[in-house]
Amino acid sequence: MSKLPDGFLWGGAVAAHQFEGGWQADGKGISIADVMTVGDNKTERQITDGVQPGQNYPNHDAIDFYGHYKADVKLFAELGLKCFRTSIAWTRIFPNGDEDEPNEAGLQFYDNLFDELHKYGIEPVITLSHFEMPYHLVTEYGGWRSRKMIDFFTKFATVVFKRYRNKVKYWMTFNEINNQSGMLNKWSLFTNSGLLAKPGEDIERTMYQASHYETVASALAVQIGHKINPDFQIGAMFSIGPAYPLTPDPRNMMKSERAMQASQWYADVQCKGKYPAWLTKYFERKGYDLDITLADLDVLKAGTVDYIGFSYYASHVVQAVPDEAEDYMTRDAKTDVPNPTLKASEWGWMIDPVGLRYALNWFSDRYDLPLFIVENGLGAFDKVEGGQIHDDYRISYLREHIKQMELAVNVDGVNLMGYTPWGFIDLVSAGTGQMDKRYGMIYVDKNDAGTGTMKRMKKDSFAWYHKVIETNGADL
Ligand code: BG6
Repeated sequence: MSKLPDGFLWGGAVAAHQFEGGWQADGKGISIADVMTVGDNKTERQITDGVQPGQNYPNHDAIDFYGHYKADVKLFAELGLKCFRTSIAWTRIFPNGDEDEPNEAGLQFYDNLFDELHKYGIEPVITLSHFEMPYHLVTEYGGWRSRKMIDFFTKFATVVFKRYRNKVKYWMTFNEINNQSGMLNKWSLFTNSGLLAKPGEDIERTMYQASHYETVASALAVQIGHKINPDFQIGAMFSIGPAYPLTPDPRNMMKSERAMQASQWYADVQCKGKYPAWLTKYFERKGYDLDITLADLDVLKAGTVDYIGFSYYASHVVQAVPDEAEDYMTRDAKTDVPNPTLKASEWGWMIDPVGLRYALNWFSDRYDLPLFIVENGLGAFDKVEGGQIHDDYRISYLREHIKQMELAVNVDGVNLMGYTPWGFIDLVSAGTGQMDKRYGMIYVDKNDAGTGTMKRMKKDSFAWYHKVIETNGADL
C-alpha cells in the first residue's frame, strides 16, 4: 500500500459535550446537549424543557475527560496521534452565551488541555460549535432564528481565537452545519441551530434563515481569526453521505444531483462565498423572503474558508417517484431506499468504503480546497473478554476506508490534510445518547444506564492504528 504525504495529520476526533462531562464544573452553563435524554437504536432521545429531575442525561458526566484529561492525553500520545480534534464547549466560556465577560475558569481548562497536548507534540484541531450552544440562547432568543446570535457567536470566537492564538492553528466553525437541511428532523434542527418548532411555524423557512445567520457568523469568524493570527487555518465542516441514483433512469440521476445540492449548498456559501442559483430560485418559488442583506452577501464573499473538514460514515440511495415534483426536493421513505449491494451497521448505516473516495473527489472537484476527513468510523457493540476487546470488525472498517482514502490521494490527486477517526475513545453517541454504540480504540467502562468504573482499556484496534500512524499509512 502507498503512503501519505509527510506531515499528514493522523489523529482522532471527539466533541466536548460527548466526552468531557463536568457539565456544571467551574461555572459551566447548561448547553443544549444537557437537556437531551438517553435513547437507543429504536428510541429517540427526548429534548426536555430544561434539566428535569429523574431523567438520564448521558452528556452530563459522559466519560469525565474533564477529570481524566492528563491520563487520557498520555494515552492518546501512546496511540501515536499527531493531532486531536475536539471542540470548545461554548458554555464553559460564556455559560449563558450573552454575558459581557467570559468565564476565566473555562478558558483556563482549555489552556491546560492545549498545553498538555503540545507536551506530547499533538496538534489541537478545534471546532468552535459542535452541537452544544448555550441552552439560554434557545429559551431567550429562539436559537439561530435570531440575528443576535451572530454577535454572540463572533464574540465567543474572538475570545477563544485571541486566547489560544499561539496554541491552536487549525479551527472549524460549525460542526456538520448541513445536517439540518438534509434531514429536517427535530434532532438536527435542535443540535445544529437550537431550533424548536413553534405551533404553525414553517420550520423549513426558519431552518434556511438560521442557516443563513450561521454562515454569516462563520464568514465573520474567518475574517476575525485571520486578523488575530494570519497563520490560522479556518475550515468549514460538513457531513457527506453521497446519494446514489437507484438505477440509470435519468430522473433518478436528477434526484441524486438535487439530493447532493440540497445538503451541500452550505459548501457553495462557505467555500465560494455565494448562494447557488437553484437555491435562490427555490426561495423565490416558496415565497421565502429571508433576511439576507447586501452587507451579508459581502461578508460571505470576504469570509470563505481555508479548507473543508468533513465527516463520512455511510452512503445513501435515492430514486424519483412517479409523482415527483419538478424541483426534485422531496425526501421521504419512498425516495430513500436501501442499497442492495451493501451491508449495514447494527444501527442501519450503510458500510461503503468506496463512498469515501467518491466524497473526496466530489469536494475536491467542486471547491479545489484542501480537505480534512475529521470523522469516520464504525459504531458497534463491543464485548470485553478476559480484559480484552477483539474489535476486528472495527479494524476492517477503518482499513477499507483508509485504502480508499489513499487511492483518492495517490491516484486521484486529492489534496488531503489528515484523517481523524471519530470517537477513538468511547464516548456518548450524539444520535442516540448511548455509550454502547462504540467507535473507540480505547474502551471506557460505562454503559447506557450510566454505570461503570470509567476505566480505560486498549482494544485490538489501538495497536493496529498505532502501526498505521507509525508507517504513515503503509502498513494497514
Ligand atoms: C456526527 C457528529 O454526526 O457523527 C458526531 O459530528 C457524532 O457528533 C457522529 O457522534 C456519530 O454519530 P452517532 O449518532 O453515532 O454518535
